[in-house]
Order: sequence, then structure tokens, then C-alpha cells
Amino acid sequence: MEPITIALAKGRLADKTIELLSMCGVDCSPLKVPTRKLVLYDADKKYKFIFVKPGDVPTYIERGAADLGVAGKDTLLESDRDIYEVADLRFGACRMCVAGYPQQRDVITNSNLRVATKYEHIAKGYYDRQGISVDIIKLNGSVELGPVVGLSDVIVDIVESGKTLEANGLVVLEEICEITARLVVNKVSLKIKYKEIKPLIDRIVAAVEDTK
Ligand code: PRP
Repeated sequence: MEPITIALAKGRLADKTIELLSMCGVDCSPLKVPTRKLVLYDADKKYKFIFVKPGDVPTYIERGAADLGVAGKDTLLESDRDIYEVADLRFGACRMCVAGYPQQRDVITNSNLRVATKYEHIAKGYYDRQGISVDIIKLNGSVELGPVVGLSDVIVDIVESGKTLEANGLVVLEEICEITARLVVNKVSLKIKYKEIKPLIDRIVAAVEDTK
């Protein structure tokens, strides 16, 4: 029987994802040994694990290179892929926010507001809905630097503890939405591997309910 391919996002969601899968009877022991391999199997070859950049999880799922995976809602909103989001896993909680210096509150509705962000699509959608034209400046990280060095007026970014904002003298100006980790599934896989995948989804949903 073909294994179920699980896309694991490297980074902040990785440990919680592995913990959750282990609780659901998935043998994750091979994942606990340090390695540079990007593809691993459990002992029974029931599961194939692939390690991908968090932002790429929806791409692997949409194209069927993975059957299921875990991605942050931020990644899902930004990538807008044609995949099933089957469960809110509740961990990885943070907020998508507009942030900047406190005095930016007064100019936030100005047109041509310069917005630095990793999340171009989310930022554009947010300001489009309000009819505010913005100049989006795409960055790949350390977005908080934008206002600090005068590259941008505000940022659109995720805020978890708020410590990065605080350390750089910035504050949340507006909240766009709440973010948590989500279980996502390839649409075709759910049909053709239904007998294998559906029970796993059910176990994951039950485990999340139990940890409420
Ligand atoms: C994220 C985000 C913020 C920070 C928020 O960055 O982009 O910079 O975490 O967390 P906090 O509210 O707990 O301080 P990440 O750590 O993913 O690194 P990056 O700057 O390279 O994107």
C-alpha cells in the first residue's frame, strides 16, 4: 500500500505538529534523530514525511506531492491554494496585524501608505477592502526594520508575543485576523486514499478536542 505523504513545515510549527501526530498513532520516532535528509519513512512505511519550508506547504499539497500537512493560516491566506483546510489545530496562535510607530495611527488612512510585509497578498486584500491605495514593499523577514529605517510607514506581519515589536519601539495599530495552525489535505488524495486518510484526520481532530 502506498504511504500517506505528510508535509512537515520546518520551523515554529514543527515540534507541535510532531507531538500531535505522535498522539494520533503516527510513528514519528525517525523524526527525532537529527538528519539533513528531506524525506523520511516510519518503520512500517505507512507514512512518508517530507520537510518543506512553511510557506511551501500549500504548494506541495495542492500539487499532490504531499497528501496532507500542517500550515499556519497566514501561509494559507497568503498562498490562496486550492486545497482542503480540514481542521483548526489551535496551536501556533498569533495575530496578523498592521504595526508601526504609535504616531502612525493618524496617517493610516493616507493613500500611498508604504507597507513592508512578507504577506503581500494579505496586505493588499486588507487595504483594497478599505479602498486605501498602498505601496507594498515585499520583504523576506525582519520586517520590523521597515519603519525603523524609514523604508516603510507601517508593516503587516504576524505578532505572537509582541516582543519583536516592543524591542523596536513599534505597536499594533490594527488587527487583521487571528492565526492558528491548520490541517490541510490534497483534494484528490482525500478521495483516492479516503480509507487511510479519513481515520487519521478523525484522530487528529479528536486529539485537538481532548487538549482543549
Ligand atoms: C516572526 C514575525 C515577527 C516575529 C513575531 O518572525 O515575522 O518578526 O516572529 O514574534 P513575536 O511577536 O513573538 O516577537 P520570524 O521569527 O518568523 O522571523 P523572520 O523575521 O525572519 O520572518
